[in-house]
Amino acid sequence: MLGLFVRTALRPGMVKPSRMVKPVTQIPKRCESLVPQEALHQDDLPKLPVPPLRQTCERYLAMLEPIVSEEELEQTQQMMEEFLNGGVGDRLQKLLERRAQKTENWLSEWWMQSAYLDCRMPVAVYTSPGIVLPRMHFQDRQGQLRFAAKLIAGVLDFKKLIDTNTLPVEYLGGKPLCMDQYYQILSSCRIPGPKRDTVVHHIVGNSPSAHITVVHNFQFFVLEVYDSNGSRLTVDQISMQLEKIWNSSLQTNKEPIGILTSQHRNTWSKAYNNLLKDKTNKESVRAIQKSIFVVCLDAPMPRVSDNLYRSRVAAQMLHGGGARWNSGNRWFDKTLQFIIGEDGTCGLVYEHAAAEGPPIVFLIDYVVNFMQKIEIKRSPMIPLAMPLKLRFNITPEVKRDIENAKQNMNMMSQDLDVNVLMFSHFGRTFLREHKTSADAFVQMAIQLAYFRMYKVCCPTYETASLRMFKYGRTDVIHSTTKDSLKFVQAMEDSAKPNTEKVALLQKAVQSHRENTSKAIHGQAIDRHLLGLKLQGIIDLTSMPEIFMDTSYAVAQHYNLLTSQVGSKTDCAMCFGPMVPDGYGVCYNPMDDHINIAITAFNSCEETHAARFSRAIEDALLDMRALLEDRNKAKQ
Ligand code: COA
Repeated sequence: MLGLFVRTALRPGMVKPSRMVKPVTQIPKRCESLVPQEALHQDDLPKLPVPPLRQTCERYLAMLEPIVSEEELEQTQQMMEEFLNGGVGDRLQKLLERRAQKTENWLSEWWMQSAYLDCRMPVAVYTSPGIVLPRMHFQDRQGQLRFAAKLIAGVLDFKKLIDTNTLPVEYLGGKPLCMDQYYQILSSCRIPGPKRDTVVHHIVGNSPSAHITVVHNFQFFVLEVYDSNGSRLTVDQISMQLEKIWNSSLQTNKEPIGILTSQHRNTWSKAYNNLLKDKTNKESVRAIQKSIFVVCLDAPMPRVSDNLYRSRVAAQMLHGGGARWNSGNRWFDKTLQFIIGEDGTCGLVYEHAAAEGPPIVFLIDYVVNFMQKIEIKRSPMIPLAMPLKLRFNITPEVKRDIENAKQNMNMMSQDLDVNVLMFSHFGRTFLREHKTSADAFVQMAIQLAYFRMYKVCCPTYETASLRMFKYGRTDVIHSTTKDSLKFVQAMEDSAKPNTEKVALLQKAVQSHRENTSKAIHGQAIDRHLLGLKLQGIIDLTSMPEIFMDTSYAVAQHYNLLTSQVGSKTDCAMCFGPMVPDGYGVCYNPMDDHINIAITAFNSCEETHAARFSRAIEDALLDMRALLEDRNKAKQ
């Protein structure tokens, strides 16, 4: 298949086409400087290391301390002794080190498969994050379509950076980051498979994508975005084409074919085969998969009060609101879907296999900047062909699959509890003035909120970037530590003086920073253990006991799935919880406020997004008071 790059076809040791990433004159905040071109080559990035075995085992035991019982810990210590001294650990470690020598990244393919492509849960709600952008106030439909046209032009302008390899390299802690993810987000799509999905990427080869997909009233259209000379259509032209799409999709009784993509992956894979039996359907699906990205022109959603507005939009981004509303106005397999509602709703949802949040947010920042600057020049009105409407033949089998998908989506959307907190009391500036890391501070507030609600602490996952390494994705910072536990216990103890609480907060923040530094330098625990486990599956007849242990199951049950995704634009990223009785918490600390999106499942009686949101707000305020007290005491 020419022009098709199948991610899962990559085998360990296969070399991906490397790209020269050149600097541009406009440097984003995270870039500290421009560096000579040769230093930017992806090939210069270090390989992800395999951490020393004993170090990971010791850190694993320390990580367990605040979250398992004494007996469980003792049992795990014995198993760990056996693992380390009985030869199994060394054997697996050596095999892993050999894999690391032979491949460009020992983890990336395993991670792609185990975290995404093998996962059978629906991508909607369970893995695809959403981004909520500030509300737009469109005067009329023209206003909405013009806004959509500008946004499309902005994304295509960003695409030039990809096509010309002129994307500025990002830095973290002074080190250049792997830029590969940026090259995976446009013109790509996930394809359901019976056991494992794949991701196709239409950017290399003879026929790169030149169209986007627009969906309105559940009807899909191919919109060619370049003219015969290869120039991007102007905003005026795109706007006119959108108008044509709008006018030819006014019927609202269409089958919501896109809702099929929100199903459990095994179910969708079977439905996909049913759908593609028909030649017209196959061509239509291929056109969506091949498109550069999708734009969803959504119908208005039920009105809510201003303070619930962002929560409602976050839900719309994550699932579309259910079968009655906009869930069928999506193709959830598509890596990037921008959502622009008639009612001013604005944001996106993205399929996670291709990339983490930071590249997506960088793209958003770029597009927002573009939209603010672009001068609309009236272009001569050259008649453009009507965008192609994609046809679907709905056989009885497909109709049944759609009905099942609608039911499933209605259950998922009703089950998701979302709350977006726009915490307005302070932000990064205040924390910088108090010489405190924003990330660690917010993490400790989440710890305190959880402890106050449940009187215990729980396994907590904070995403850490591994992009300092070639093809690096993520590892885990464990925010629950012995020090965080001491801090939250002290906060709930009225007998403790503030001076002690401040000292414990500082210690907990310090531990968090150390764990963060270890994680981003490739020395975290989770992925190393995963590597040893997967190596064990390949190599051994029986699984080492440490992976069958209660503590391991407890440690992997992340009641708190958290991540910082910072941006220049005032947006909030959101994602679903990892476990049925957990929370998803994504935060964006801006200079003077913090956007925090919290999710939970309604089917779990113990969790409640709005209550947790209030608890986080209280925790942040109480912790601010501590920092202010400390400063007063110093004066
Ligand atoms: N005194 C003063 N300033 C301090 C400080 C202190 N003691 N400690 C930290 N800071 C400052 C730093 O200098 C830096 O300043 P800047 O904002 O001017 O750049 C800032 O605080 C650091 O910000 P912070 O938010 O605390 O942490 P971070 O930028 O190191 O981010 C992670 C930490 C874990 C979020 C980041 O390393 C990471 O991995 N991000 C990727 C997340 C991801 O991929 N998510 C995917 C979700 S799909």
